[in-house]
Amino acid sequence: MSLADRIEQLKAGGQAAIAAATSTAALDQVRIQFLGRRAELPNLLRGVAQLAPEQRGAVGKAANEARRQLEQAIEQKLEQLAAAELQQRLEQDKLDITLPADPLPALGRLHLITRTRREIEDVFVGLGFKVVEGPEVERVYYNFDALNVAPTHPSRLTTDTFYVEPATDLFDPQTQLLRVHTSPMQIRAMESQPPPIFLIVPGRVYRPDSDATHTPQFHQIEGLAIDEDITLADLKGTLETFARAIFGPEREIRLRPHFFPFTEPSVEVDVSCFNCCGGITADGERCPLCKGTAWIEILGAGMVDPNVLHHVKHNGYSPEQVQGFAFGIGIERIAMLKHGVPDLRLLYDNDVRFLEQFA
Ligand code: PHE
Repeated sequence: MSLADRIEQLKAGGQAAIAAATSTAALDQVRIQFLGRRAELPNLLRGVAQLAPEQRGAVGKAANEARRQLEQAIEQKLEQLAAAELQQRLEQDKLDITLPADPLPALGRLHLITRTRREIEDVFVGLGFKVVEGPEVERVYYNFDALNVAPTHPSRLTTDTFYVEPATDLFDPQTQLLRVHTSPMQIRAMESQPPPIFLIVPGRVYRPDSDATHTPQFHQIEGLAIDEDITLADLKGTLETFARAIFGPEREIRLRPHFFPFTEPSVEVDVSCFNCCGGITADGERCPLCKGTAWIEILGAGMVDPNVLHHVKHNGYSPEQVQGFAFGIGIERIAMLKHGVPDLRLLYDNDVRFLEQFA
């Protein structure tokens, strides 16, 4: 067989093998077989120099051409096979990223403080109170002055209040501080709307304390009710409804005389202990929750002091015409009492083993 015929034969064989290849892997074998380093056609090309001079041109050209055609055929076929294989892989690994994860991720839950806040809000919304919020960075005027807090009151000291620097004059009504209670919103709310007013103010408050029962930041819910015929009996009925909604329908409340600069009279409110009977637990022990007293302090309240109303008299709050009550509830305190949380700081450690107990 002449070299030219052999080249033709190799080319035809290669083309047939390329056509027959059904995968990129098989095609790669064909490439090695016909164009690899030990394959016949490339060898032939390498040997052209040893041929007789009159043969070199024709054989070299034919072999080169055969190699080029095979290379081209392989390239084309590779493209085809690769595309088909990709298509097949895509069909097999169909992944719908809109499907829910398997297994479903665990649902989160509301933080106990959020949950307690909402529970309390629900009670008062049910009684007709509106929920409003106010600024955490507050002015001396709203936090102290307008609430009838005397200039000498110790809560104004830097040991009891965070002032916003530069706080050059702690008695300047414009000096800024982090509110120590939600009560400043009593004034702001009365400035912004005439009576009657029935609202609650949930929010963060700040005091420089830190121990098992105090954190520098905590939460309160302020309550304010002003109308023409509001009495201490309304306050008591409102707070009794609150206490029963949160701590159980059997609860009683009692008001003890107390002092707040912005209410007169002022009271501290206790709820009957829900952990014992008369201070003694079911197994005859002194109740650790109420310390055997049968009562637990839950909040501070009182009738809004006329001196407070005086600051918003111009907006319809003349103490001769309207009066009302206010109260301040510590959200953490309610949550801790209700769920037996022994240390306030647990609420802020963000340990899920603690947090996930409150579904
Ligand atoms: N602002 C008071 C406190 O933080 C609570 C309070 C609010 C008392 C309204 C009476 C009336 O302790």
